Formats: sequence, C-alpha cells, structure tokens
Amino acid sequence: MVVNNVVHVNECGLPLNAIEWLETHHHSKAGERACMIRDLHLKQGGLVVDAGCGPGLWTPLLAEAIGPDGRIIGVDISAEALVTAKKRSINTWYRHQVQYKRASLEQLPLAYGRADSIFSANVSQYLLDPVATFAAMGPYLAPGGRLIIKDMDLGTLRFYNVDPALQARVFRARELWEKERAEQGLLFEDSWVGSKLAGYLRAAGYKDVQVKTYRIVRRYPLAPDYRLYLEGIAEWFVGEGAPYLSREDQTNWLHCFLNEDDNVFARESFVSEETEYIVTGVWDDSHAGDCLKLSLATQAEAEEVLVAVQE
Ligand SMILES: C[S@@+](CC[C@H](N)C(=O)[O-])C[C@H]1O[C@@H](n2cnc3c(N)ncnc32)[C@H](O)[C@@H]1O
Repeated sequence: MVVNNVVHVNECGLPLNAIEWLETHHHSKAGERACMIRDLHLKQGGLVVDAGCGPGLWTPLLAEAIGPDGRIIGVDISAEALVTAKKRSINTWYRHQVQYKRASLEQLPLAYGRADSIFSANVSQYLLDPVATFAAMGPYLAPGGRLIIKDMDLGTLRFYNVDPALQARVFRARELWEKERAEQGLLFEDSWVGSKLAGYLRAAGYKDVQVKTYRIVRRYPLAPDYRLYLEGIAEWFVGEGAPYLSREDQTNWLHCFLNEDDNVFARESFVSEETEYIVTGVWDDSHAGDCLKLSLATQAEAEEVLVAVQE
C-alpha cells in the first residue's frame, strides 16, 4: 500500500485545521460536545470569547448556553476560518449574538476585565508557550470569570482490535516527532496536551482549577462521520514522512484503517476510545498589575469592538 501522507492543514499551515476536517470532527462528537458546554453552566446573558473559534462550530452551543441576551466574540488568526464562520452564522437564530474578529489569543479584541468566559477548544495543542498565552488571556476576564480550555490527549487513544504493539510504536513515533518538528520548520504541536492543561493554568496564575474528562467510546458499526474522523487521524499519524516509524509500520498502520477490503472498521470487534479534557480556571485578580502591558491604542481599539458587539 502507498503511504499517502495526507495532512489536513489550514492557510496558516496548522495541521488538522482544514475546514472540512474540523466539521467532520465536530459532527462526529456532537453529543459529547453539547454535553461539555451544558456542564459548564455558563453565565446567562454573559460575554463569551471563543478563542481560536475556527469555522464557528461551537457558536450555536455557546449561544444556547448563555441565552438570547448573551454575546459571543469569535476570534481566530485564520481569515479563511473566519469567513466560513461568518457565512455559517448568516440567517441563524444566533446571528445577532456573535461577531467574528481576526486576532491572536494573546491580544484579544476586547477591553480588559470584560469577558465572563474565554472558551478555547482544540487550540492549546498549537501553543508554543501555553503558560504565557493563558497568562496573557487572564486580564480579559471579568472578576470571577473563567478560562475554559478544551483539548485532546492522544495518550488516551486506543483501538481495541489493532495490534497493541503497533499502536504503541505509532503513538511513540508521533510523540517523538512532535517534540522536534518545530525545529524542522514546521509549526509546533502537542497532541498530548490534555492531561497537562491543569498544570499550565495553575502556572499561568489561575486559581480554582478544575478538570473534567469526557471518555468517547465508539463501537462497530461506526457512524460515517466518526469513521472519517478516525481515518483522518490515522493518516495524520504517519504524515510528514513519520521519521520515527519504520516503513513497514507505516504501511501496516494505514492498511488497518484504509484498506478497502480488509480494515478494522468492518469488524464487529471494533471499539475505539479516547478521552478529552475540559479544564477551567478563575483568573487571580492579584495579577491585575500585568494589565498595564496592553498599549492604550490597542485598548481603545478593543473598546470600539466591544461597543459594536453590544449594539
Ligand atoms: C483545530 S482548530 C479548532 C477550531 C475550533 N475551536 C474547533 O474546535 O472546531 C484550531 C484553530 O485555532 C486557530 N489558532 C491557532 N493558534 C492561534 C492563535 N495563537 N491565536 C488565534 N487563533 C489560533 C487556528 O487558526 C484554528 O482555526
């Protein structure tokens, strides 16, 4: 079998960020994601920043949770993702509640102390210095407001009917490669970030840090979107040439998932499992002095955006 090395990237070069891929991923876990948002008990009528919103897939869940008087600012560095998010929200019941803005997580387009929650899903894995980024986001929170980080941890991924030794080699090879791919000119990625998030939030200056895990188990017969999601993940594991994996392991791995006549999904024994993390923390007000880092010009600009959102 030929190794395809298909990697799903957005225009910023981030892997697993192509719009179509994100949509498939979202729909394949729709039930769990709705549950994640419900469990957060977001403040009714509050202001939520969706930091790294991508194509805006979480917006309806967030809008439902905060109610019709609540507001969402979706923020992303990818213009392509924001165009899709805006298009998606046209003619929806939540369209008056959301505004999408191009910005980075570290310089959010609103004034300090305004957000009741900052929600960020599947973004922390791309942060070169997550502690610094989370610390930069804290001042944007209103007193008592929460930073909410959702992410994956591939250390929890299991396929029950795939050779455990092969799985271990494939995962280990990817983990090793992620540690050095940034040095090879590729963007940073830590797909093992979920279990590290609580430590990062505490180190960044958050208090009352809480962790909730969601175990996602799927069995034969698989829904088509979940199968597409797993096929994408399987390809991605051996993407970029998989320098720490033998050619034989690459071929055997792809055979398991992508062979048309003989693949693991077609077997009644198929079970997959992964755990996703939601970690929340309250910004510690004693860090308020750090707010001075923001220039007055940026602050004035941010205020304008906020007024526009509130109108
Ligand atoms: C895997 S996607 C997740 C999108 C969306 N949150 C979701 O779960 O469907 C990651 C998104 O984060 C954005 N992103 C990555 N680093 C960022 C940063 N430092 N500031 C703003 N956006 C960022 C990417 O452009 C991409 O749209």
